Amino acid sequence: MNKLCLLGLVVSLASQSAFADTPAAPLQDKQAFIANLLKQMTQDEKIGQLRLISIGPEMPRERIREEIAAGRIGGTFNSRTAPENRPMQDAAMRSRLKIPMFFAYDVIHGNRTIFPISLGLAATWDMQAIAKVGRTSAIEASADSLDMTFAPMVDIARDPRWGRTSEGFGEDTYLTSRIGKVMVQSFQGSSPANPDSIMAIVKHFALYGAVEGGRDYNTVDMSLPKMYNDYLPPYRASLDAGAGGVMVALNSINGVPATSNTWLMNDLLRKDWGFKGVTISDHGAIQELIRHGVARDGREAAKLAIKAGIDMSMNDTLYGEELPGLLKSGEVTQAELDQAVREVLGAKYDMGLFKDPYVRIGKAETDVKDYYADQRLHREAARDVARRSLVLLENRAQTLPLKKSGTIAVVGPLADAPIDMMGSWAADGRPEHSVTVREGLRRAVGDKAKLVYAKGANVTGDKAMFDYLNFLNFAAPEIINDPRPAAVLIDEAVKAAKQSDVVVAVVGESRGMSHESSSRTTLEIPESQRALIKALKATGKPLVLVLMNGRPLSLAWEREQADAILETWFSGTEGGNAIADVLFGDYNPSGKLAITFPRSVGQIPMYYNHLRIGRPFTPGKPGNYTSQYFEEPNGPLYPFGYGLSYSDFSLSGLNLSSKSVKQGQDLQASILVKNTGKRDGETVVQLYIQDVSASMSRPVKELKNFQKVMLKAGEERTLHFTVKADDLKFYNGQLQWAAEPGEFRVQVGLDSQAVQEQSFELL
Ligand code: BGC
Repeated sequence: MNKLCLLGLVVSLASQSAFADTPAAPLQDKQAFIANLLKQMTQDEKIGQLRLISIGPEMPRERIREEIAAGRIGGTFNSRTAPENRPMQDAAMRSRLKIPMFFAYDVIHGNRTIFPISLGLAATWDMQAIAKVGRTSAIEASADSLDMTFAPMVDIARDPRWGRTSEGFGEDTYLTSRIGKVMVQSFQGSSPANPDSIMAIVKHFALYGAVEGGRDYNTVDMSLPKMYNDYLPPYRASLDAGAGGVMVALNSINGVPATSNTWLMNDLLRKDWGFKGVTISDHGAIQELIRHGVARDGREAAKLAIKAGIDMSMNDTLYGEELPGLLKSGEVTQAELDQAVREVLGAKYDMGLFKDPYVRIGKAETDVKDYYADQRLHREAARDVARRSLVLLENRAQTLPLKKSGTIAVVGPLADAPIDMMGSWAADGRPEHSVTVREGLRRAVGDKAKLVYAKGANVTGDKAMFDYLNFLNFAAPEIINDPRPAAVLIDEAVKAAKQSDVVVAVVGESRGMSHESSSRTTLEIPESQRALIKALKATGKPLVLVLMNGRPLSLAWEREQADAILETWFSGTEGGNAIADVLFGDYNPSGKLAITFPRSVGQIPMYYNHLRIGRPFTPGKPGNYTSQYFEEPNGPLYPFGYGLSYSDFSLSGLNLSSKSVKQGQDLQASILVKNTGKRDGETVVQLYIQDVSASMSRPVKELKNFQKVMLKAGEERTLHFTVKADDLKFYNGQLQWAAEPGEFRVQVGLDSQAVQEQSFELL
């Protein structure tokens, strides 16, 4: 290409950009483009780029626009339609350098169409279904003018007291890593610059799921091998999948807050992992460095954060206020400021905003009239994914599926609770779009069966808890208290049950109970609802519990009362239809738990892949001096990977291709899976590995692969798995990632407990 042609290309690319009237910026060369822009920026304009501002209803819009036009804001979150965001982008286009804004939002499990909460998505073990969630969310969010989502949340959660357990993909490193990757790829599509893509910001870096005691915002103290083997890989996998950014966690790690943690952001993230994207603090986290006790004042907090590697300050005050002084005194260097600005500009570049600041906002003429119109939803996708997320925990005497005939009592405080269907972090979902369980059942039976409904109980009878939950939602009451006495509510439900052939009781947690800042000391269904269950059981009618909750619950007592239990999480806009599909057998349940259900809160932490110990408890062999709790049965109530179907599946003939492998070599495993039941159905065949003897104690087993298979009634199929050389590696005491020679066991099962086993030797 001759010089003239090149110049022409540069000019034509630049003329599409916001920089048509600034010196020609070589838009096709990211680094050169950003370097050129940085040269033109004043210090104030640079600091402005590091400020991410939350737009609330109370925010004076005009003032915000003035700030943007003055180059003092880099991006916003929580404003989420084109008519809201266009004037802000217009303001940016009036600024001296016309650097575009970006618009972010917490699009976690859907934007307008709400899919099951993340813990429910994980229970699908279905990467295609999860990709559908990410893609649909990106299409909806980008159509509404959004450029970025604060997702996926890939914090491993092994303490279900933590309310944010609902936001993650469970306890397992491998499953969470797989899902994180799929989420990133489906949010971003082939490029985050595409008009229908949104940039993924992986959170909360790092280890937020390990807060001590499951109490939100608490400290995290963890050994390095545990961190490297169990907690860090999902962030890494999501970044390797191309996520544009990282949100830094609110917690401290071994005494140093993540927000001021140079090791975390500089040594690990940037140097070891080679991450090139943007880092964003969590909400107000820089200010919180003072309360963590590592910064004496706002000035020191801002200094620590930027030096440690926080590029953008969420809901900023301190970067704006303190960086000018810190730069003047030389405590923060130009180079440090420039580095942070470079990352923010880089993210904007990657989102395609320099090429077209209105790429997702579009033109005013094409704005939709009604953002909340039902036609804008993707209901079919939501129903499909929701039914895959449901986990059948119990089904005595084939209580399920139900017949579409006779009379069915639908009771419980969550049976007709549109807001709860959505779960927490429901983005722009609207309760009026939710299909509740009552409504789903009504539609499914039409006039073939009679439904009788009674609320039966309030979610909780505890006033303090009630007030707390309603305090969490600023917009509308979260839970509505039926003022009638508890006994009256129960009587009404019992009457409904008595006239019916079967009772479907929808019980569990209201969505606010599994939310940020909603840690619990118990995993029980609140007493008001347990009293209802007891009364329903006393009627002698078949009792189906449909559970809604965002964390494992302790269900030992409920299991004795119920004939069938269906775990439905918070299943989203189409939840009621999906639940009806499963209850009536129009869909054969296939979900499997992505997190262990303990018997009681006292067993926590309880996760399937714990390290081996010297005195393990042997089921069926009680006795002293083994590791156990003596007042109740040991082991989980429902193990990781567990879930029933209306069909039965069997596994046989686990076979390994060799009795030994050399370092670096793969091994093949095969097993026969058969649908021995009378219905077609899907199951998840799970492959675990145990390293029998190593330089450190290793987990009793670790998930390394799985296949979700559909088998017709009576069909059998041989499944093949590759055990890869990397599947045998772990981070040892010196943090070297290596496989150690010796015996390994391959375990294959339909859950993490009942497995078949074969061993081989790594030479
Ligand atoms: C949460 C983040 C979230 C942010 C913005 C914070 O309170 O911890 O997960 O992305 O708010 O809404």
